[in-house]
Amino acid sequence: MARVLLDPRVTGAKINKNIYGHFSEHLGRCVYQGLYVGEDSPIPNVKGMRTDVVEALKKIGIPVLRWPGGCFADEYHWEDGIGPKAERKRMVNTNWGGVVEDNSFGTHEFLELCAQLGCEPYINANVGSGTVREMAEWVEYLNSAGDSTVVQKRWRNGRKDPWGVKYWGVGNESWGCGGNMRPEYYADEFRRYQTYCRNYGDNKLYRIACGPSENDYRWMEVLMERAGRYMDAITLHYYTVPGTWQHKGSATEFDQEEYELTLRKCLRMDEIITGHEQIMNRYDPSGRVGLIVDEWGTWFDVEPGTNPGFLYQQSTLRDAQVAALTLNIFNQHAARVVMANLAQTVNVLQAVILTEGDKLVLTPTYHVFELYKAHQEGLLVPGHVETDESAPGVCRLSASASRKENTLTVTMANTSATEACEAVISLSGTKPAAAAGRVLSGDMHDKNDFEASPVAIQPLTGIGIEGDEVRVSLPACAVAEITVTL
Ligand code: AHR
Repeated sequence: MARVLLDPRVTGAKINKNIYGHFSEHLGRCVYQGLYVGEDSPIPNVKGMRTDVVEALKKIGIPVLRWPGGCFADEYHWEDGIGPKAERKRMVNTNWGGVVEDNSFGTHEFLELCAQLGCEPYINANVGSGTVREMAEWVEYLNSAGDSTVVQKRWRNGRKDPWGVKYWGVGNESWGCGGNMRPEYYADEFRRYQTYCRNYGDNKLYRIACGPSENDYRWMEVLMERAGRYMDAITLHYYTVPGTWQHKGSATEFDQEEYELTLRKCLRMDEIITGHEQIMNRYDPSGRVGLIVDEWGTWFDVEPGTNPGFLYQQSTLRDAQVAALTLNIFNQHAARVVMANLAQTVNVLQAVILTEGDKLVLTPTYHVFELYKAHQEGLLVPGHVETDESAPGVCRLSASASRKENTLTVTMANTSATEACEAVISLSGTKPAAAAGRVLSGDMHDKNDFEASPVAIQPLTGIGIEGDEVRVSLPACAVAEITVTL
């Protein structure tokens, strides 16, 4: 028996909807074939954007999309991706598979995609191999209404009004593929680059500094000390890799031990965020600077027979567990974590969607985003989970809760691969009027593929209310959403 102790009368920070954000890089088949097929494709599209993918992402309420990378961002020169497509510069994508990038998906296409999705664009600009002027002029091209040569170019390319892009990343992984910089050097570079990224009209740029990898607390310390006052947010990257970077492990063939190891590694996210929060709290006690986990998710060996540079992997209920545990952690840290971007939306790493030609598969992770979407903009209900471990270092039950008016949403994961979990949600004296639930469960290896999609959300039956308690029985390897009417 596990207990989730909540007092719905006590609420904390608002859960920023951007915690449920996604990431799309020019990598493998994420942008090309995944999101964008071009206007002449026989695959149904609107202005080149795959209709099936757009519709699916809208259903989970995608709030923000990060682009164009990743490592690709620090080799991306935005002017290569505007103007008539036939004249756009071709380049070799040296980071990812050495394929030709014809730049047919550029600034206008990305912003068209965001408009179709109804989400905010988050552009990650180039520090590693780009100039200050190049970055400054990209902001001008996007956001200025003034009659300058740069803006006239935008007009000629068919866009009269500025887009008003807000989320602006200054470099990606500047400690690695983004330039192998030391934190002291990058802190100065961040200060310099962001200076010339101007605010135009009413649009105030939200300046995002490149933060650390995993538990590189020194990077955070140096950035907060030297550049904290110039940034609105700082990023963090943490991937769940069960093996080593050389042998990460198969996405679909694993035993229970590896399943548990994966969840243990995923749960490190809590410790890592807490460590960075402690540093941020020292330099920014008011909590003004947000933490953005703009790359997270599972990273396994690529599917056999696929291009190793394309990072294409299948996805099982193990991935769903990772998503559920991680999103519960983000919700609990909502006072500091203002955005997160799962890597990467379609066909890359822990994708929510896989495509093959005109076919589309919704992965188990997609369904977790569907189950959790009610948390977006809800008020966190801080709580405590009393639970034992389903394996060493793995809590049997993970949960988080939020409130919107008289609706309480509790999301839960039973991490045990083999045993059901009886759980009580205790509401500290508040007697609920009703409760209903939805669940995703099965064998830890279960997946959806192009032949069949057995993993789907089902109603969760047998929910009981006794006084101020809601009782639920979660099957093994389950992720659930419980909606309680107060
Ligand atoms: O998501 C794949 C890669 O992982 C990104 O390009 C990079 O930022 C990170 O190392």
